[in-house]
Amino acid sequence: MRNLIDIKRLTVSEINSIINRAVEYKSETAESIRGEISYNSGIIDFAKFGERLYRANSCFGKTACMMFFENSTRTKCSFSMAAQKLGMNIIDFDTKTSSFSKGESLKDTIENLCYIGVNTFVIRHSEDNIVDKIAEKTDCSVSFINAGDGKNAHPTQALLDYMTMLEKLGTVVGKKVTILGDIAHSRVAKSNIALLNKMKAEVHLFAPEYFVPENKADYDGVWESDYDSAIKDADVVMLLRVQNERLNSEELNSSRAYKDMYCLTSDRLEKYAPNAIIMHPGPVNRDVEISSELLDSKKGKTILEQARNGVYVRMAVLENGVE
Ligand code: CP
Repeated sequence: MRNLIDIKRLTVSEINSIINRAVEYKSETAESIRGEISYNSGIIDFAKFGERLYRANSCFGKTACMMFFENSTRTKCSFSMAAQKLGMNIIDFDTKTSSFSKGESLKDTIENLCYIGVNTFVIRHSEDNIVDKIAEKTDCSVSFINAGDGKNAHPTQALLDYMTMLEKLGTVVGKKVTILGDIAHSRVAKSNIALLNKMKAEVHLFAPEYFVPENKADYDGVWESDYDSAIKDADVVMLLRVQNERLNSEELNSSRAYKDMYCLTSDRLEKYAPNAIIMHPGPVNRDVEISSELLDSKKGKTILEQARNGVYVRMAVLENGVE
């Protein structure tokens, strides 16, 4: 059973393998093979499908448990969609009506669910490193996928972002990827920085002082002192959500000015980075990180393509977990 906890633990070859498989799923080839296995099992042609048939079938009938202690639209729904496409059973674990309210620990909950028959846990939580800790503590043959832990990591977001960049640019090697905004509270930034450096992109970073992380030196990229220089001639402008729910009152006060100074508009983009693709992990704070007119324009559609690629990347990640 393989876990996906943090991009930092993946090799370049493992990242490439996940992306290649996601691309294969997106092309619908593997998906249509699985359809034949699950719905018309009488017509399987092993000689024709060989290895791919085996791999496509590895998740069929297995069970994925979605444990989301923090809200989510894209990650939860695309993991659920991915699991369905792979023929998995899904338990949508309801944290509010579960026995957590009676004081049951996460470890005990997970172990009971293992014995009930869960094979893969997809966990989102507000606490940094909790998925890693629970995977260490749990004595069951299951896989754990980190769907976002606190301010620490969001590995599948970085993978789907990378897939989207490859589709648009062909490669990220030597490309200027600028990540801007609330870097201090962003797990998306951390995972993308880790992945993009492994893949030899040129990472640039900008945050207003109230969103600069305390351990700035640990963020591997060129720190820019000005928003417009940061995006100048970028190939990718990756905006981050202002994470209001994670800000203390002082940060919240400072961040109110963010939209006036750092909202990306079509005019600003045209002036400094006319050829850049625009990315954002979502959910977007309209007219804060990006103007509505840019978001709703053709350029803004890349953000929806990121969400779509999330389904295929998560199929590949789920499959890795049960192989
Ligand atoms: N990008 C992302 O994680 O979105 P959700 O919070 O909606 O899952």
